[in-house]
Amino acid sequence: MEKSLVLIKPDAIQRGLAGTIITRLEKQGLKLVALKMLHMNKALAKRHYAIHADKSFFNDLVDYISSAPIIAIVFEGEKAVEVIRNIMGATDPAKAEAGTIRADFGLDIERNTIHGSDSAETAEKEIKLFFSEDEIFG
Ligand code: RTP
Ligand code: MG
Repeated sequence: MEKSLVLIKPDAIQRGLAGTIITRLEKQGLKLVALKMLHMNKALAKRHYAIHADKSFFNDLVDYISSAPIIAIVFEGEKAVEVIRNIMGATDPAKAEAGTIRADFGLDIERNTIHGSDSAETAEKEIKLFFSEDEIFG
């Protein structure tokens, strides 16, 4: 079964939205198979977002995602990556479809509440950054 990594970003934790977001994802039929709260350090933030290393927003992004604790979750389900990307909405909350998590809760293009892996291959790599095999109950 496909797995995907979700991060509940600092802006969401700070506004008490963690439970709401987890509930919305579970209502999609996704199974929660791993979860931890952590404060990402800059090294982990740089590895997680390495694909964006040459972008103008990279340093700001690394500073933001490592600014306060996050919750990392692995969800499992049929087409988990696609299901999560759809319910997340577009990167910029102002452009996200109504009813998506980012449209409802995102503050701006950086503080956009949630991360979801963008492919099954990316998910496998991202999950390994946050969880060991024995922390995943899938
Ligand atoms: P994510 O990786 O966090 O799930 O978001 P995404 O796929 O929708 O967007 P991506 O292009 O991968 O960008 C990663 C994160 O970088 C921040 N960002 N800031 N200032 C900007 O123009 C800008 N663009 C992207 C966002 O936090 C985005 O989620
Ligand atoms: Mg991305």
